[in-house]
Amino acid sequence: MAVSSESDRFTITSSRGDYEVVIEAGSFDRHMADRGGAEGGAPLICDARFAERFAPLAGDRLLPVEATEHNKTIETCAGLIAELRRMGVSRKDVATAVGGGIVQDLTTFTTSVYMRGIDWVYFPTTLLGMVDSCIGGKSAINVAGYKNLAGNFHPPKRIHIDPTFVASLAPDQRAGGLLEAAKICFARGDEALDAFLDAAARAGTDPAALTAAIRTSLLSKKWFIEVDEFDRNERLLLNFGHTFGHALESAVDFRINHGVAVGVGMMAAFAFARSKGLIGPAGETRIARLRDYTTGLLLTVDGLEETLRDASAERFLAAFASDKKHLRDAYVMVLPDAEGRLSRPQFPRNAAIDAAIIAANDSVIREIFR
Ligand SMILES: NC(=O)c1ccc[n+]([C@@H]2O[C@H](COP(=O)([O-])OP(=O)(O)OC[C@H]3O[C@@H](n4cnc5c(N)ncnc54)[C@H](O)[C@@H]3O)[C@@H](O)[C@H]2O)c1
Ligand SMILES: [Zn+2]
Repeated sequence: MAVSSESDRFTITSSRGDYEVVIEAGSFDRHMADRGGAEGGAPLICDARFAERFAPLAGDRLLPVEATEHNKTIETCAGLIAELRRMGVSRKDVATAVGGGIVQDLTTFTTSVYMRGIDWVYFPTTLLGMVDSCIGGKSAINVAGYKNLAGNFHPPKRIHIDPTFVASLAPDQRAGGLLEAAKICFARGDEALDAFLDAAARAGTDPAALTAAIRTSLLSKKWFIEVDEFDRNERLLLNFGHTFGHALESAVDFRINHGVAVGVGMMAAFAFARSKGLIGPAGETRIARLRDYTTGLLLTVDGLEETLRDASAERFLAAFASDKKHLRDAYVMVLPDAEGRLSRPQFPRNAAIDAAIIAANDSVIREIFR
């Protein structure tokens, strides 16, 4: 991918201090040069897939981690803490993390507790990381086989988005990032969705359009995390597609990536809302563009139809019902209303609603692969 001269920066306001986002192609190489390469002292935590490439840059300051869910554990964080100690990292040192959401979660947690907290800067390398997870400051660590059971807030001091990392991503990883971004922009409103869809249509060939798509998604998410930093109200709307999506990820043993599961989850949420008569004509018009875009991307994901057909309805429903966002007596779902705007209606936990949830999920396979 050609290096673009596009540069972009903005600030996220948070109770843990403000932090800066800089979108700039080629910024990783410049950062490593500024850091003084292998002599630079501070640790570089990276996705193991980059270890060979980064070894000449970071020498014995390099801490590669395998980017698998299996490895996103407290034990891995404990290992990283021990390595930081062995390197003599002090509270004045600033760690650099380079990788997708797994490296981000591990680094957030590790740097938040090492010596009661050290600063870090983050280079997301997946599109999902660039358009979504890099801001918001959350970590989520798997414990005892439960995904994302433990976590905290410890945002990086600066996030450098170097879109040149996108070039090596697998097609389903790109689709997942674009789907999560489309969801954020849809939640924000028509203007954000229009701007995103326009940029995303050209992002594969035009570096400036890729930067614009990333910027539109992050500025949309910035609004939610600044008005509701701790997930009490508006930010919960960003869970659109996630109750169905997380249940699906679990039912297929994480054989599809998170963003793709969210894409299928948004389609299932539309189907469920429609089955309950929630969406009016204006709402249908509003969601049509997102639905068409989502369907188009899901059709590019290899093997998706077989994976969805293999999913067990029992496991799906069990995972859906145990989502921590529900109440004891009621499911809470993020769904479009009559005008197609997102809200959080509740539904009683009973057999009829369970059947409607499964039917909505099944209908997605027919709708996408008709
Ligand atoms: N903390 C948060 O706010 C938050 C938000 C969303 C997701 N997450 C977590 O993030 C994880 C998913 O993250 P993800 O999808 O960003 O990536 P990931 O870290 O799971 O990586 C996915 C795959 O892409 C590879 N990869 C990474 N960068 C690459 C590149 N530039 N080129 C080629 N391959 C590359 C990785 O090695 C891995 O095989 C999940 O564990 C999820 O729970 C956290
Ligand atoms: Zn998500």
